[in-house]
Amino acid sequence: MVATTEQAAKALSNGELVIFPTETVFGLGADARNGATVAEIFAAKGRPQFNPLIAHIRDLEMGEEIAEFNDLARRLAAAFWPGPMSLVLPLCGDAGISELVTAGLSTIALRVPNHPTAQELLSAFNGPIAAPSANISGKLSPTRAGDLSVDVRMRVAMVLEGEVSSVGLESTILMPEEDRIFLLRSGAMTSEMVRELTDITPEPLSSEDKPKSPGQLLKHYAPNTPLVLDCEEWPPEAVHIGFGDREGDFNLSQTADLTEAAANLFAMLHAADRLAIEATKSKITVAPVPAYGLGVAINDRLKRASS
Ligand code: TXA
Ligand code: MG
Repeated sequence: MVATTEQAAKALSNGELVIFPTETVFGLGADARNGATVAEIFAAKGRPQFNPLIAHIRDLEMGEEIAEFNDLARRLAAAFWPGPMSLVLPLCGDAGISELVTAGLSTIALRVPNHPTAQELLSAFNGPIAAPSANISGKLSPTRAGDLSVDVRMRVAMVLEGEVSSVGLESTILMPEEDRIFLLRSGAMTSEMVRELTDITPEPLSSEDKPKSPGQLLKHYAPNTPLVLDCEEWPPEAVHIGFGDREGDFNLSQTADLTEAAANLFAMLHAADRLAIEATKSKITVAPVPAYGLGVAINDRLKRASS
């Protein structure tokens, strides 16, 4: 039986993963407001790192409820959406987006896909869908349902088949500021198209902003308070983030569930940072988190936030 967009929208609402076609590549989608399902994306892809994800939206109107668009962003959106362009914009604090989507950053990447099935799904779901390419980490991005690996198919509630992805290359990621546009990832939309519309040439990130890892981020989220990992005990001078039966001011997951821990990670780091400042604690300590499954990405992110 072929899945319908209505069924897929329902699955997303129920906290399940859905694969859907877009004009660039097939996406592995989750409700962007449901941290536990977003965590499942990383588990399904076997991705050892939490990089921020692109949230797919129906239209600019939905986008305005999630992010702050300045004039330049609005012009780009009006000209190139729906299409293979993602915009990184300041996140509205009350948008209800899981912090795992933004990897704790104060910005969010948004895109309106130009594909009939993706648009139907977004209309039926009526909310933001976080979706990276629907491939196992390190493998080719699928542009036809037939190219999806069984490992990924196994992890999702359903696959929307739809037309093949005609573009076949991930979206171009732009970050528009006052009168500059930063190019965070080259892709299907060219800089010439942007220049023709705006008279602004997108600037690649300067080398000091460029991270060594794939997926060009401007910066990684890190708390202001020094972070110490693998703490077995709860030190009195610290705000402690527990895990499992090791209690703290916060607990990533009392049942030692790594999916729940991943979903809580960034929100708890932010909360711990705020509490440390309020209660004048000199550090944030974190209980050991096992380094398997999603624990690999959790430990990777904690390590970066601590260095
Ligand atoms: O074509 C596409 O864009 C595909 C299809 C499925 O729409 N999606 C896609 O999503 O490639 P994803 O989640 O793999 O892209 C994530 C990349 C990150 O690696 C990062 O480079 C950038 O988007 N990104 C996302 N949020 C960001 C942010 N707040 N700041 C900077 N870069 C961000
Ligand atoms: Mg990808």
